[in-house]
Amino acid sequence: MEMLVRRGFLWQSFEIYGGMAGFIDYAPLGNNLRRKIENIWREFFVINERSVEIDTPLIGIEEVFIASGHATSFVDIAIECEKCGRVYRADHYIKEKLNLEVEASMNAIKEVLQTYDLKCECGGKFREPFYMNLMFSTKIGAGKGKSAYLRPETAQGIFVAFKRLATYFREKLPFGVAQIGRAFRNEISPRQGVIRLREFNQAELEFFVHPREKKHPNFHEVANDELTLVDKFEKTHRISLAKAVEKGIIANEVLAYFIGKTRRFLLKIGIKDEKLRFRQHKDDERAHYASDCWDAEALTSFGWIEIVGIADRGNYDLSRHSKFSGEDLSVFVPYPKPVVIKKKKPVPKMNVLGPVFKERAKKIAEALERAEVSSDFIELEIDGERIRLSSEFFEVKEVEEEVTGERVIPHVIEPSFGLDRISYAVLEHCYDKDIVEGEERRVLRLKRWVAPIEVAVLPLLSREPFTTKALEIFSMLKRNGFYADYDDSGSIGRRYRRYDEIGTPFCITVDHQTFEDGTVTIRDRDTTGQVRVLISDLPRILRELFSTERSIEDFGEKFR
Ligand code: ATP
Ligand code: GLY
Repeated sequence: MEMLVRRGFLWQSFEIYGGMAGFIDYAPLGNNLRRKIENIWREFFVINERSVEIDTPLIGIEEVFIASGHATSFVDIAIECEKCGRVYRADHYIKEKLNLEVEASMNAIKEVLQTYDLKCECGGKFREPFYMNLMFSTKIGAGKGKSAYLRPETAQGIFVAFKRLATYFREKLPFGVAQIGRAFRNEISPRQGVIRLREFNQAELEFFVHPREKKHPNFHEVANDELTLVDKFEKTHRISLAKAVEKGIIANEVLAYFIGKTRRFLLKIGIKDEKLRFRQHKDDERAHYASDCWDAEALTSFGWIEIVGIADRGNYDLSRHSKFSGEDLSVFVPYPKPVVIKKKKPVPKMNVLGPVFKERAKKIAEALERAEVSSDFIELEIDGERIRLSSEFFEVKEVEEEVTGERVIPHVIEPSFGLDRISYAVLEHCYDKDIVEGEERRVLRLKRWVAPIEVAVLPLLSREPFTTKALEIFSMLKRNGFYADYDDSGSIGRRYRRYDEIGTPFCITVDHQTFEDGTVTIRDRDTTGQVRVLISDLPRILRELFSTERSIEDFGEKFR
């Protein structure tokens, strides 16, 4: 963290006013890193999926969160000290002080507090635990205004727009809809730095599937990938995804596919496989909307932390929004070929209807023909009036009907990524120390494609003509689309170390030979090896280097 602040990755927000827990500024390097991770996420989960990306408001009207269940269920249990007034999240405080994993239910928390007579850090007693909703509330408009909340997840914007999205995809399942953006949670006393923020960045994909066909057309791509799974009984498996589905450890192919794809994405951006595991939620741990959930967890100095949640949300959200909005959020799924079904159909008896209902009889007969028979009477609504017709008014005939498909409310599988935790875990996993020329070196071994500064141009000496030439090369590289930097202060060795520390993969050095034959050296951060190349070849060579992980020495002669 000291390095991240000093070198310009992350800063405390509102620092000059004393800061505020749960908020961070993305400083220049951290901002670049997160954006690059975001773009790779887009490649994985939007461009190379049957997916689109949308962008919906950060503020949601109250109706949305009443329907989604967040207004009532998105709560944590808090405890407040009678003496100093400090408030803690109960389960976290119990874990920290007693090293006990406690179920996050009011009864379980109360029992632990009583059994262990837990006290505040100041020695004070706690008041009765209470529920705290984690959403930030606000008002839209003047005066009394309309109640609203800052979104606690980007997902709801997608569910609320589902009707339009289904039409956009011509109701053809499966399809995915992604959203990248800010989410807000009024976390109780966040104390883990960047891990628990009150304003953070999510990248979420809602993948809508047929409820009875939880299959993904590309499952074969990841089926043989082996990974570490910890199931809900805390049993660890090192197993392929295909086997995990076959043995029922992972409930369906779509969940398994996104677990596999998540792992590939995380490895691509620099998470270490040996510090990555997928842990299934226990039955008492799942969010109110989830029927199953697997977290990708990364091992960091804070222990194992959740960086991605992959949940099967079933049809919870669409059903609730359908019920609360009154809109039909089902899609029509055609059968491979039409099926013929036998159906009971009411046939009106006009000779009985006529004398009783007179001029309304025709309208009633038409409505009767469209009605379903489920008992020996039928209820109809005619011009706002409910009419109950007993079996003397109709006959029941069995007819054959061709049915071409059915309406279903899709299920949704949701990989939900926290970009802040992911960026932080990448930084920790890539932070390394080694010995170069007898001295300890701090080096951030970031993957080339996420490095915030891709290439640094350094004049060997900070005087003419080296500086002008280096500045020319610096401009040329920027024109070619590279995130480049220029530095002429301090010895060349110290400058290399500075760029190693922030993960810059390559340094270009202008030296005496540059003025003899138009060449410069490229230095590889990881091996510290150097090769000499023509200045005019730099953009091509760098592009090639950024598409691979091969070291510069591996390329060797090929450059010349
Ligand atoms: P936790 O149990 O750690 O509070 P969660 O289970 O509430 O996390 P989810 O609701 O599954 O997390 O959110 C999806 C992702 O969003 C998480 O995997 C995490 O990366 C990220 N996330 C959630 N809450 C925060 C937060 N307060 N600060 C930063 N990232 C967060
Ligand atoms: N969308 C999952 C979550 O934020 O909890």
